[in-house]
Amino acid sequence: MDMNYLITGANRGIGLALTEEVIRNNDRVISLCRRSSDSDKLISLQNKNPSRVELREADVTVESDLINVSKNIERLDVLVCNAGIMGARGGMMDKDNEFDIISDVLMTNIAGPFFTIRAFLNQIKQSKSPKIIIISSHMGSQKHSGSESYFYRASKAAINNIMITLSNELRHSKIPIVSIHPGWVRTQMGGEYATLSTKESASSIYKLIQKIDMKKSGHFYNHDGSHLEL
Ligand SMILES: NC(=O)c1ccc[n+]([C@@H]2O[C@H](COP(=O)([O-])OP(=O)(O)OC[C@H]3O[C@@H](n4cnc5c(N)ncnc54)[C@H](OP(=O)(O)O)[C@@H]3O)[C@@H](O)[C@H]2O)c1
Repeated sequence: MDMNYLITGANRGIGLALTEEVIRNNDRVISLCRRSSDSDKLISLQNKNPSRVELREADVTVESDLINVSKNIERLDVLVCNAGIMGARGGMMDKDNEFDIISDVLMTNIAGPFFTIRAFLNQIKQSKSPKIIIISSHMGSQKHSGSESYFYRASKAAINNIMITLSNELRHSKIPIVSIHPGWVRTQMGGEYATLSTKESASSIYKLIQKIDMKKSGHFYNHDGSHLEL
């Protein structure tokens, strides 16, 4: 049976590659991007695969956008919370460590997945094989040795913590939820020297998604399926 996916931040980077991977595997996908996003590549994918891709607009920090999208959907099998931003990449004195940018990072990377999951929970509950995936980062691990990107790291640590709380609340509904580190990927965020192409990362994440079950729920994985420390 083909599965219904929903992916946030799907107009570029890992989200766009995941959309392509879902189509390659003959599943269906609702791909979300912001109204302001450059969505040319997604529109072209949709034109080539009209029965497989649906394009919808939502900013993950605006819960009403997500709720509006959810109104026309009956069932979702796999929800992928991918949208994310980096904010300040430097140390303590980085000028981007200021109120608006810090607040954007925390709202996008922490509240964003939380709002997304809450908005689509009823649709996920209609699935016989539901799965919720949060694209996190190993930079959020408490074992990291970095000395920069303060609020990005903190946001990914926080969303991993929220993933665990959600896994406890969703256990009785038999909905597994995990965090996945996508690898270091050549995107606008990852930069040109990253080790993985978006296609390599997306293909690996897609394979891992197929293996997610209740036993794996509440844990943090590398894209290759190995276990990561929180
Ligand atoms: N690349 C890496 O090496 C790497 C490593 C670890 C984790 N990650 C994680 O992987 C995920 C995807 O990253 P990426 O490398 O593909 O980054 P990217 O190329 O910068 O793409 C980020 C995507 O998120 C969207 N987005 C940002 N804020 C949003 C909002 N408020 N509402 C809806 N969409 C929003 C962007 O849309 P716009 O085009 O509108 O800005 C874009 O589609 C992120 O969660 C990131 O933290 C990436």
